[in-house]
Amino acid sequence: MHLTHADKDRIAAELVAVRERSLAYTDADDDMLLRQHSPIMSPLVWDLAHVGNYEELWVLRAAAGITPLRPEIDDMYDAFKTPRRDRPSLPLLRPDEARRYISGVRGRVFDVLDAIDFESPDPLHRDGFVFGLVIQHEHQHDETMLATLQLSGRPGLVRDGELPPGRADGPREVFVPAGPFRMGTDTLPWAYDNERRAHTVDLPAYWIDRFPVSNAEYAAFIEAGGYDDERWWTPEGWEWRRRGDVTAPLFWRRDGGTWWRTRFGRVEPVPMDEPVQHVSWYEADAYARWAGKRLPTEAEWEKACGWDPAAGRSRRYPWGDEPPTPDLANLGHRAARPAPIGAYPKGASAYGAEQMIGEVWEWTSSWFLPYPGFRAFPYREYSEVFFGHRFRVLRGGSWAADPAAVRTTFRNWDFPIRRQIFAGFRCARSATPEEAAGTAPGAA
Ligand code: AVJ
Ligand code: FE
Repeated sequence: MHLTHADKDRIAAELVAVRERSLAYTDADDDMLLRQHSPIMSPLVWDLAHVGNYEELWVLRAAAGITPLRPEIDDMYDAFKTPRRDRPSLPLLRPDEARRYISGVRGRVFDVLDAIDFESPDPLHRDGFVFGLVIQHEHQHDETMLATLQLSGRPGLVRDGELPPGRADGPREVFVPAGPFRMGTDTLPWAYDNERRAHTVDLPAYWIDRFPVSNAEYAAFIEAGGYDDERWWTPEGWEWRRRGDVTAPLFWRRDGGTWWRTRFGRVEPVPMDEPVQHVSWYEADAYARWAGKRLPTEAEWEKACGWDPAAGRSRRYPWGDEPPTPDLANLGHRAARPAPIGAYPKGASAYGAEQMIGEVWEWTSSWFLPYPGFRAFPYREYSEVFFGHRFRVLRGGSWAADPAAVRTTFRNWDFPIRRQIFAGFRCARSATPEEAAGTAPGAA
């Protein structure tokens, strides 16, 4: 589990890869980068300089004690000092200046990597934690930039990475017997504070969907009048739906008898066999109620995804501990879309749930709360200040998430109204007493 000197080459390669990604997303004219495409997003050039500033704060200053390069810009790139909507009015570094600044930081980061001792008692140094911190952080901002780019309608982000075909055979739900499992982690070296500590959670038996909810299934909810039937919505959800006049997922439009969507500037028929994305928590919750089910709790989601009941331990990924490959999961912006339902039989979890990592972030019914024994590390503003009854937890990781930033224990969170993120969901339901006892047909 511990990192050694040999891992330095891998870390250097990850640093190079994530920076290529950030530069590709910001390979655009100044107006594209400086403009605010949506009041809920930053100008792209803010994200670009922010990832460099974060790297300077954590790798250069905190871990290596290097004198600040540009202390005067810190406040501008502190996410807590200026809300997204106000960032365009800041005297931001111009795109060329931002690129120069982040590459200057990066040069020194490689020197720190060369010198660092992975066995140091300093928790930022140990197992290269601070490098995991900045690599994951930059990938998270890259995914945020991709959401901004989708909102902007800019073409050129669709890629032609091959995705496997879907398959529609077999059961639509998998059964998870009652019993305890270990949630979270104490051992993954690059896990965030919010994934710690590992703790036992004892769950009653339940069913969880084998696949994410598809566009076809979601369209049936719309067809059945789901958006006009208050019964399926929570009071806040109904209020949000009415005020915003929401009638379909974001980026969908109906023309004649067909649903169309806009994806990075392309208009195309909604592919019915893909997982639905760009729905809020309120829509996911309403769909689940309409379907006679509910959203899974975060614990149910994690057990179905990561727990290996035979081994009595959690896997790093649904299929095991081996890193993702293109035949296991749709990650890393291969094609700029989710893969069809059933595309990854080899990526199934121990309980048989599929496509839990990759495709879409999955809304759960849980608020973002600390696990027992939580301790903020390395700073309160990563997780701790977000705990409470404001954010819902998302799990899994989307097609836009990078393998370096996903695992069965990873926790994401957002406001329940958010739809620009690449999020969908799957449903769950509690087992009946007969099913739980294993006496009902179909209970495995
Ligand atoms: C974990 C995706 C909710 O982007 O708001 C980025 C991560 N923290 N910079 C976010 C984060 C600091 C965070 N999410
Ligand atoms: Fe950030």
